[in-house]
Amino acid sequence: MFRLLMSITLFFSLLTSVNSQTTIGHQAIEKKIQAMTLSEKIDFIGGYNDFYIRGYEHLGIPQIRISDGPVGVRNFGKSTAYPAAIGLAASFDKSLAYDFGKAIALEARAKNVHLLLGPGLNIYRLPITGRNFEYFGEDPHLAAQTSVAYINGMQDQGVMADAKHYLANNQEFNRNHVSSDMDERTMHEIYLAAFKPTVTQANVATVMAGYNLVNGIHMSEHHQLNNEILKGDWGFEGFIVSDWVATYDAKNAANGGLDLEMPSAAFMNQQNLIPLLNSGAVDEATIDDKVRRILRTYDRFGLFKQSDLSQGFTLDEAWVRQVAIDAARSGTVLLKNNSILPLERDKPARIGVIGPNGNRVVTGGGGSSGVAPLHPLSLVNALKQISHQGTDIVSDSGVFTGAPYPENLWDDFPLYIYQDDQKVQGTHAEFYLGTELQGDPVHKQFFDWLKLENEQLWQFPTVPKTDFSVRFTSFYSPKTTGYYSIGGIGDDGYRIILNDIEVVSLWRNQGPTAAKHEVFMNAGEEYKVVVEFYQAGGGATIQLGIKPAEMSKSPDDYSAPAIALAKDVDYVIMAVGFDWQTEGESYDRSFEMPYNQSELINQVAEVNNNVIVIINSGGNVEMESWIDKVNAVLMAWYPGQEGTLALAEILYGDTNPSGKLPASFAKRIEENPAYPFYFDDDGDLRVFYGEGIFLGYRYWDKVQQKPRFPFGYGLSYTQFEYTQLEISADKINTTENLTAKVTIKNIGQRAGSEVIQVYVEDIESRLPRPIKELKGYEKVHLLPGESKTVSMTLTPDDFSFYDPMLKKWVVEPGKFKVHAAASSDDIKQSAKFEIRP
Ligand code: BGC
Repeated sequence: MFRLLMSITLFFSLLTSVNSQTTIGHQAIEKKIQAMTLSEKIDFIGGYNDFYIRGYEHLGIPQIRISDGPVGVRNFGKSTAYPAAIGLAASFDKSLAYDFGKAIALEARAKNVHLLLGPGLNIYRLPITGRNFEYFGEDPHLAAQTSVAYINGMQDQGVMADAKHYLANNQEFNRNHVSSDMDERTMHEIYLAAFKPTVTQANVATVMAGYNLVNGIHMSEHHQLNNEILKGDWGFEGFIVSDWVATYDAKNAANGGLDLEMPSAAFMNQQNLIPLLNSGAVDEATIDDKVRRILRTYDRFGLFKQSDLSQGFTLDEAWVRQVAIDAARSGTVLLKNNSILPLERDKPARIGVIGPNGNRVVTGGGGSSGVAPLHPLSLVNALKQISHQGTDIVSDSGVFTGAPYPENLWDDFPLYIYQDDQKVQGTHAEFYLGTELQGDPVHKQFFDWLKLENEQLWQFPTVPKTDFSVRFTSFYSPKTTGYYSIGGIGDDGYRIILNDIEVVSLWRNQGPTAAKHEVFMNAGEEYKVVVEFYQAGGGATIQLGIKPAEMSKSPDDYSAPAIALAKDVDYVIMAVGFDWQTEGESYDRSFEMPYNQSELINQVAEVNNNVIVIINSGGNVEMESWIDKVNAVLMAWYPGQEGTLALAEILYGDTNPSGKLPASFAKRIEENPAYPFYFDDDGDLRVFYGEGIFLGYRYWDKVQQKPRFPFGYGLSYTQFEYTQLEISADKINTTENLTAKVTIKNIGQRAGSEVIQVYVEDIESRLPRPIKELKGYEKVHLLPGESKTVSMTLTPDDFSFYDPMLKKWVVEPGKFKVHAAASSDDIKQSAKFEIRP
């Protein structure tokens, strides 16, 4: 009760405190800057303790606390786990996106978090990108408008948001080293277009410089993109934060626009900057500007007057919880329905939930966005909650997924080395300078435990804090014969080599990342286990785990009980897709679902005629091999902590699905326009975005072909009729707005929501343009028989394109069309107009 009262009080005090926010003003900030020593200024622009910006009590500068983002407050204990960001984009609902940002901000404030690392708005080029689930899809307008609403929701509560990862960090493989190369028009029309409104419309407090390079220059050093475009042309007044360990050079970062190096000053530190300042390579005014930007942003958020946002506790409000469920309700996309859905709620039935994601809670993908949920709910339990009393819900995983990461069973299964022919529990480590295990070891050490973190690895005088590598060598002898999971966690790269065979390979810069592999081992046999590890910056972690995989049979045999169950039920709900182990940060994933799940769907569809597939993933997956054999398909993305309830409601028709695809879904991965331009095939660390501006539906329109499911597509249990499209004028000049009014009617039997999509087509143009581009959308809820008219205003920006010769956006006079559409491939009404010079 006390907690509840505390939360309610906080809730209202937060609201009032934001309203009565006061600032100290620019003059007071200048005084603080003048009072700071050079060393203090330099120390200030490097983070510390992983998620903090240091404070200076004597200068009245508060310490600032940071948390990930973007789908919940990830750090400092449990929080609400919200659905995947791509699901929020799929809702095409700006007011929901506002609430999403607001709810996360309220939780952040309760945990005394001042800066929340979200939203993420990198453009979806290929479905296999590991972090698509954290982003808003393929279209810059949708990504921008979802972000603007999210940021406004968050910043209205006094929490600084962060638009990340600027710019073109659109792949995870080798993300620190590969350059995203593109022509200027593509950069402006697709990639910058997603970010620009976060500054010009939402006034975002911070922007995160990504790990990658663009056109050969690291983003943390990119003078053109940071200083000229973001801070110059767009007038960004906040500060640029580096991604965690995404700074590569002190001088280039200082001059290239980076304001705050995170998580600590590996480069922009006193040792590097003072000589650069003395030699004139970096101006003190440049350092002052960084400090000023950070301090002015604090002031804008009232942090000098009230930096202690709360008592520091977990806010667990009903409203916040509902926002997370609503996002799953609104973002789930019904892709296929052979009249099987909705299921009859009143008729008792036997329902089999088959697949790895039925009985466990998969709130999101893996990596830095993963929130430990306050209220985890599996699909099976959600179905049990709302099904008819007489309905029997039974389940089987059908595949072997195993533990996410094998915890070490040291007592029963120790690693050992030989010392004077005696077995001694532990491992032998050799430390090398540099990240490639080259030269002679600079230190040798025995550890009785292969679970080492930071100080444990940093305690040796000859070993630096970064840029070192270690080889751990030991032996392992299992007590019983069978399958074992062998795996690890490493920050940064590591490999596990079992009897000279590399079984786990994650040799790259990364945050703590787990991986595992199942192997068959014989009792009593001795296996040599080598773990290689390197540390490139930030925290250092390496762990090894081995445990019996609980696999008594071959992976293929796991489907047998699931097939038996499928034969015996009225309906099968396949809960399939990816999870936090198979889709996430720092690696790209397969197009095929893991654990042989396509095969499982096929096997189930052979024996049951009522199969509904629910997919968890951040984007498209291989469906070709099974989609014609099943009755319905729902794209659930990742539903967050209790979004499974939304899925259960959709299955029974309590919620009418209304999500629309924020990315085009091709049949085969090779059909994606970016496919030939994604991988660094020649190993030169450069990827040229050859598809240019013709990405996603812009490509499908151009080649006059259809993907399996187009951008903007999603079914409903009711039908809508677009009865009218009126535009405010049929002739405008280049500076005038145009208003489009669309009337839509629910002509079906159920209440439902529809997304009206407005696309602009430039009929005649000097440069090749996409056939049409999304420039407006609105979600409307309609009762059966109800009509509504929505009105959307298009501005000159919505008619313009970027002219690389003139180096600016231009509105070109000529003939245009406005389309009101139900998807990029389903135009309902069109109107012509002309722009006059
Ligand atoms: C991610 C960022 C994240 C940061 C802090 C990085 O690995 O790319 O999105 O905010 O870690 O956790």
